[in-house]
Amino acid sequence: MSSPEKSAFFIPDPAIIRKSRVPDYDRLYAASVADPSAFWENLSKELLFHTPPKKILDWSPRSFEGRWLVGAMGNICENALDRHVHDGFANKAALIWVGDRGEEDIYTYGRLLDQTSRFAHILKELGVGKGDRVTIYLPPTPFQVIAMLACARLGAVHSVVFSGFSAMALKSRLEDFEPKVLVTADCGFRRGKRIPLLETARAARRGIASLTCTVVVPREASPLLLEPGERSLPDLMSEVRFSGPLTPVPVSCDDPLFVLYTSGTTGKPKGVVHVQLGYMLGTYATARYIFDLQDSDVYFCVADPGWITGHSYIVYGPLLNRATVLLCEGTPDYPDAGRHWSLIERHRVSIYYSTPTTIRLQMRLGDSWPAGYDLSSLRILGSVGEPLNPEAWHWIHRVTGGKLPLMDTWWQTETGMIMITPLPSTPLKPGSAGRPFPGVEADVVDHSGHPVRPGETGMVVIRTPWPSMFRTVYGDPERYRKYWTEIPGLYFSGDSARKDDDGSFFLLGRVDDVIKVAGHRLGTAEIESALITHPKIAEAAAIGKPDELRGEIIKVFIVLRPHALSEPPHRDEIKQHVRLELGGIAEPHEIDIVLSLPKTRSGKIMRRVLKAREMGLPEGDLSTMED
Ligand code: PRX
Repeated sequence: MSSPEKSAFFIPDPAIIRKSRVPDYDRLYAASVADPSAFWENLSKELLFHTPPKKILDWSPRSFEGRWLVGAMGNICENALDRHVHDGFANKAALIWVGDRGEEDIYTYGRLLDQTSRFAHILKELGVGKGDRVTIYLPPTPFQVIAMLACARLGAVHSVVFSGFSAMALKSRLEDFEPKVLVTADCGFRRGKRIPLLETARAARRGIASLTCTVVVPREASPLLLEPGERSLPDLMSEVRFSGPLTPVPVSCDDPLFVLYTSGTTGKPKGVVHVQLGYMLGTYATARYIFDLQDSDVYFCVADPGWITGHSYIVYGPLLNRATVLLCEGTPDYPDAGRHWSLIERHRVSIYYSTPTTIRLQMRLGDSWPAGYDLSSLRILGSVGEPLNPEAWHWIHRVTGGKLPLMDTWWQTETGMIMITPLPSTPLKPGSAGRPFPGVEADVVDHSGHPVRPGETGMVVIRTPWPSMFRTVYGDPERYRKYWTEIPGLYFSGDSARKDDDGSFFLLGRVDDVIKVAGHRLGTAEIESALITHPKIAEAAAIGKPDELRGEIIKVFIVLRPHALSEPPHRDEIKQHVRLELGGIAEPHEIDIVLSLPKTRSGKIMRRVLKAREMGLPEGDLSTMED
């Protein structure tokens, strides 16, 4: 087997390098880490502040608190919308929306600002002000974006919950976040199927005392039958008197923008907290340099705004750069396997930011699909969420003409922005996410924090703070500290990797109990907790099993309660149970019923043993295993 370090280089076209915003990565990188404050300060000057920062970074190595743009006052929504309208771009398309059933709508910057301002007005009338919390449970539609921006405009804190999550999953997030307002829709659509969001939201919000109102954005023409505590958006729009645009509320460097729940090693998802100003700087700079956004571009990111990729690289990063963003509801193979290719042709998409699972699916569906469309508008490709294997890398590179820069971007919900990535001007190595973004000190180290040698496997860490770093875990500061104390003083990502001789990173996957299924992040403990709420299941263990298409699939091992032995539950029943508890993305693909689980003497499930057995690999050190 050839080692990834030996894989061929792709050298970008000299014309691309010449025109690039970063023609010389090595020089910029060296300067950026020699004086990170100067590097970030220069970029911050391209953004609008009511009061400019007095200090770029205030870093406390004891509490791991990184305060960026100290003393500044500003607003991210104002930077993403008002600034561009002010500069004469009111008629430029900001958002092109394509629905699952083929619907299309275009929002110019002027229209997006107007709608956001009205939505903010409505939220204000409903009592939402600076620091108040709003949960957004909407399908990928313009109002999902508008609701986020409206919260930001008010200095309120949004928490977007992916619309594929179940009532129980939404409920647990509502319980933790305690929002004042919930924004939802009557329904969403996926593969032509109606997804009843309002029903799910109703089931989830029962008993959430903090909620004062549920705003319902109608998707279907049929009249809404509302329950007490619910208001429809059109009714609110017609009631509220708008006296001109709502002025954006300036916020400080410590004011939160959003909380996004993500899976970790314990059963409960954690609320990752990001603040407005630092996050603004990080997403602005990375979107600018990595995707080289220009006014003529149409930028298509396949994520849902309900995930961090959508937050940073559908909504905030691109809009801060005055981009035209294509937002697409649905899947890449519906109504047919040409979905993305036809969107690229129709809307002259120039930047296509996709995921390994999407690319592998497209690869499986065959070359004739991309070959059937005019893809000549494309100029930059991107990938995120899981390792992009060289085969898939070569495939997408080839079917899009064999010349395009392909940005395999590594980052996380916690980092808020892309941390390790090629740039359009840097050489590419298939299978590698390239080198750290300027200003980011990423490394691969051993357990005590010492860098490992090139080619050796170690853990991915970040040595110094970065502007869009998360600031805490909502309601659980100890969990935040853990990220910095496991390898003392360094931010530990939970990923392993190796670097080659010239510092390119090859990501190898998670080393903790987090699995990545089609790029979605799930905790094994979360799946296990859901399984054991089934009346017939006594114990459960979940592992990620390598899968050619989805990266990993979920395999679970369950031990039945004695009373269920004579009448074990059907596998479909177990799948359905997890679907209801967590949502479709967490549904196990394989289920084994076993008599017992391998455990340590202290009672911890040894998932690595299950995984090794599953894959036919050596089981490793079993000295701690109970009999
Ligand atoms: O394991 C890494 C993987 O996704 C994890 C972060 O997941 P999440 O917070 O859901 O954010 C996903 C989108 C940013 C990481 O710890 N990951 C992300 N990008 C890559 C990746 N693994 C390999 N290569 C990537 N480019």
